[in-house]
Amino acid sequence: MIRAITYASAGDPAAVLEATEIPDPPAPGLGQIQVEVRAFPIHPGDLIGVTLGPRTPGQRTVAGLEGTGVVVATGPDVETPAIGTRVTVFPNPGSWAQRVNVAAELAVPVPDSVSEDVAAQMVCNPLTALLLYRAAQQHFSVGFDGIVINNAANSSVGRLFTASAQHHHIATISVVRSADRARELAARQPNVPVVSTDSPDWVQQIEVIAAGRPIPVALDPVGGTVAGDLMSVLSSGGTLIAYGAISQEDIPLHASGLLGGEIGIRGLTIGRWLSGVAPERRASDIAGVTAIATTQAGNFDVAGTYTLDQISAAARHVSAPGKIGTVIVKT
Ligand SMILES: NC(=O)c1ccc[n+]([C@@H]2O[C@H](COP(=O)([O-])OP(=O)(O)OC[C@H]3O[C@@H](n4cnc5c(N)ncnc54)[C@H](OP(=O)(O)O)[C@@H]3O)[C@@H](O)[C@H]2O)c1
Repeated sequence: MIRAITYASAGDPAAVLEATEIPDPPAPGLGQIQVEVRAFPIHPGDLIGVTLGPRTPGQRTVAGLEGTGVVVATGPDVETPAIGTRVTVFPNPGSWAQRVNVAAELAVPVPDSVSEDVAAQMVCNPLTALLLYRAAQQHFSVGFDGIVINNAANSSVGRLFTASAQHHHIATISVVRSADRARELAARQPNVPVVSTDSPDWVQQIEVIAAGRPIPVALDPVGGTVAGDLMSVLSSGGTLIAYGAISQEDIPLHASGLLGGEIGIRGLTIGRWLSGVAPERRASDIAGVTAIATTQAGNFDVAGTYTLDQISAAARHVSAPGKIGTVIVKT
């Protein structure tokens, strides 16, 4: 038997997630590898999935989409990755187990220079930052005089996006929800202006910083009234890119707010990456993700490290205010 983090019903992840024993996986099948998982991240999106319950209610299901470890067996027709290779797998439903069978094509080799803490979170968040960057680039002024608004900029994804934008000389304005967070972020990314939504004039502050330059894109993982307000600062033809729903609140919207400036709203999810992106593009994205993990270790903060038995505390930590970085569980 092996140990895994499982759930059988919908509800608060801290209550329904448990460390349980499950049978050893069988020998890997055609095109599969077997990975001995050493660590995995808990992403906010993982917990939203748990809150909604397993696909088959009542059936104990292994949680998680990402995990890192070592290849211990390969199935027929698998040439790479070879046994002994360090890999991170994503998106693989049921990754939070000590051993998993997974399609070899979902395994990203981990360079030797990448630490286990970075390896544990090296695909999902950098890939999201990459997809956001690509979506933002669809606006002509991004990369010229356009400014991208980055809401919840102190999140793991938000910081990785800012770092990528800086690398590509794209101007951004960070938005956070408290003055304390704004100070922390300004100290960490001194060349990037930060605005806090707890200041009553935060929208005007953005306009002052932009100083007439276009704001074609606002990236928003929060939703609610702040997302609505972000739309008001967009320049004509601008887009609010919604990629999360942290606040779980509706975005207030009056049609007139869209008409004059021909403002658009679009969603973005990594979920479509596997099914909707050409294999060549995926390979290029994974090369980009590996480069981010190799060169930006400082942006892969670990908020806390837990054992399998501490899964409830680990799940609670994910939504703790002021948390910086990703919660990691070691198996
Ligand atoms: N669409 C996709 O495919 C995709 C993929 C990956 C991630 N995501 C989404 O991206 C978001 C960030 O993920 P992450 O792992 O980077 O998160 P994270 O590191 O856990 O950070 C969460 C951030 O959200 C802020 N926050 C929490 N509640 C808030 C609220 N009510 N209003 C404003 N800010 C709030 C926190 O601010 P404080 O510092 O003030 O606490 C923190 O900076 C999540 O919504 C996640 O679901 C989406």
